[in-house]
Amino acid sequence: MSTAIVIAVDGPVAAGKGTLARRLAERLGLRHLDSGLLYRATAARLFESGGRPDDEAAAEAAARALNEDDLSRTNLRHESVGAAASVVAAIGGVRAALLEFQHRFAATPPGAVIDGRDIGTVVCPQAPVKLFVTAQAAERARRRYQELLARGESAQFEAILADLEERDLRDTTRAVAPLRPAEDAVVIDTTRLDADQALEAALAVVAERLKLSPDKAI
Ligand code: DC
Repeated sequence: MSTAIVIAVDGPVAAGKGTLARRLAERLGLRHLDSGLLYRATAARLFESGGRPDDEAAAEAAARALNEDDLSRTNLRHESVGAAASVVAAIGGVRAALLEFQHRFAATPPGAVIDGRDIGTVVCPQAPVKLFVTAQAAERARRRYQELLARGESAQFEAILADLEERDLRDTTRAVAPLRPAEDAVVIDTTRLDADQALEAALAVVAERLKLSPDKAI
C-alpha cells in the first residue's frame, strides 16, 4: 500500500481540465500528469519513425518505447499530433502499454493530480476524488480559437468546432475506455466559469471528499 493520494480529472478536449489539474496540483502540493501527453508523444514517435496512426502494431510499439523525455517534445501541442493521438488512443494495445506508466506515476508519494479521459473510470478507479470537467462545445471551440490566435497561429473557428466535435465523438464512442464520467465523479461545468472559479469549485470538492479545509495543502 502506498500513501499516495490521487485526484482524477477527466473531461473532453478544451474544457479547461489541464489548467485546472495543474493549478490543483500546485495548490495541494501534489505532482501533475497530463495523460494526454502520453498519447500525443506516442503519435509523435510514430510520425518520426514513418508509421501511420492506424497501424496498430507500430502504434503499440511506439507506446511501449515511450520514456519521460518524450513528454517534453516540443511539437506535442500541434493540432496534427492531437488528431493522431485521438486515433492511437482508440487502440487497446496502446492503452495497455501506457497504463503501467500512469500507475507508477499515481503510486509515487505524495500522490498526483492526473488529467485525461479515463483516469477515474479505468486508470485509477480507486481515486478518492474524481472530477469530470466539461463545457459546451461552442465555448470550448471559442477558447481553443483564442488560444491559437494568442500564439500567433492562424485559426478558423468553424474548422476548430468541427474538429472538436469529431474528436468528442471518437473519444466517447470508442470500444476501449470511452470518455464518460465515473459514477462517483463530480461534474464541473466550466462554460460560465473562469479558471479561478473552476479552481475554487474543485477545491471545495477535494475538501469535501478528503475532509480537509479548502485552504490546506495535503
Ligand atoms: O487531452 P489531449 O487533447 O492532450 O489528448 C489527446 C488525445 O489522447 C485525445 O484525443 C484523447 C486521448 N486521451 C485518452 O484517450 N485518454 C487519456 N487519459 C488522455 C488522452
